[in-house]
Amino acid sequence: MSAAKAPFTHALVTGASSGIGEAIAHKLGKAGVGMVLVARRKDRLDAIAAQYTNCEVVSADLTTEAGVGTVLARLRDQTRTPIDLVVNNAGFGTSGNFADADPQRLSNEVSLNINALMRIAHEAVRQMQPRGRGYLLNVSSIASFQPGPGLAVYAATKAFVTSLTEALHEELRGSGIRVTALCPGLTHTEFQSISNTSGLESKFPDFAWMSADDVARDGLRAVMEGKALCVPGLVNKSLTAVSTFTPRGLADVSRALRHVCGRRHSR
Ligand SMILES: NC(=O)c1ccc[n+]([C@@H]2O[C@H](COP(=O)([O-])OP(=O)(O)OC[C@H]3O[C@@H](n4cnc5c(N)ncnc54)[C@H](OP(=O)(O)O)[C@@H]3O)[C@@H](O)[C@H]2O)c1
Repeated sequence: MSAAKAPFTHALVTGASSGIGEAIAHKLGKAGVGMVLVARRKDRLDAIAAQYTNCEVVSADLTTEAGVGTVLARLRDQTRTPIDLVVNNAGFGTSGNFADADPQRLSNEVSLNINALMRIAHEAVRQMQPRGRGYLLNVSSIASFQPGPGLAVYAATKAFVTSLTEALHEELRGSGIRVTALCPGLTHTEFQSISNTSGLESKFPDFAWMSADDVARDGLRAVMEGKALCVPGLVNKSLTAVSTFTPRGLADVSRALRHVCGRRHSR
């Protein structure tokens, strides 16, 4: 994406301190787009911001009302450059049995993946509507297309993100505001260590994985083109197509088989 090609001038990116969000920030920075970078690790954001001009850093914990409030205040601030691209990317997962998971962690996951994303999207649309233009990219997952035993809360939060985004895409058709859900599959980032899914690295072959850079490229392209959904990569597209057209009963059988095979494998 070159500066001449980028249709946005100032972007706000949540979860910009690592992984897909960081890759998106570098692509925008290189294209000369001004940025507001949001995450908790300020040192990481400062290091990215130092590489580009016109870059603000907001250190905020988006599982808290105060953290979300700081981002909403920046979106509303009429004294600063208006934001015409919002990338709602911050998120994490929790693997394991639902009953064994720490309830506070699950609450934080819902607060970040659902509440913060919804509040930021809401304010972004309110600010963009009078201007008659803007771009909103919500980072979901291919996990949003099926219930996810072993990642139950995560898949449910992402189902919310995809559903909300597709609804907004339709609701805002013709308004000048483009809304896109980016639904990555396996992507090499810090997600695996934080969500305790590092075991997936040995379970799935190299070709099933994408780089954060490629996912970022596809997501930015999709929101510029006004697509409702972006599933990056051939493997992810095929998996999504199979799960979309598989009757729920059959999907349950195949999940059960996977579960049994996975157990045998780990013995
Ligand atoms: N990697 C995958 O395989 C994969 C697949 C599908 C979808 N996704 C989605 O892609 C998005 C980005 O994840 P990633 O893979 O790039 O993982 P990542 O490397 O762990 O990045 C997550 C980002 O979210 C930020 N974040 C986490 N908790 C936060 C909080 N409480 N407040 C503010 N920011 C917070 C982190 O920054 P700080 O820690 O500095 O706050 C970090 O910048 C997520 O929504 C994830 O669900 C990932």
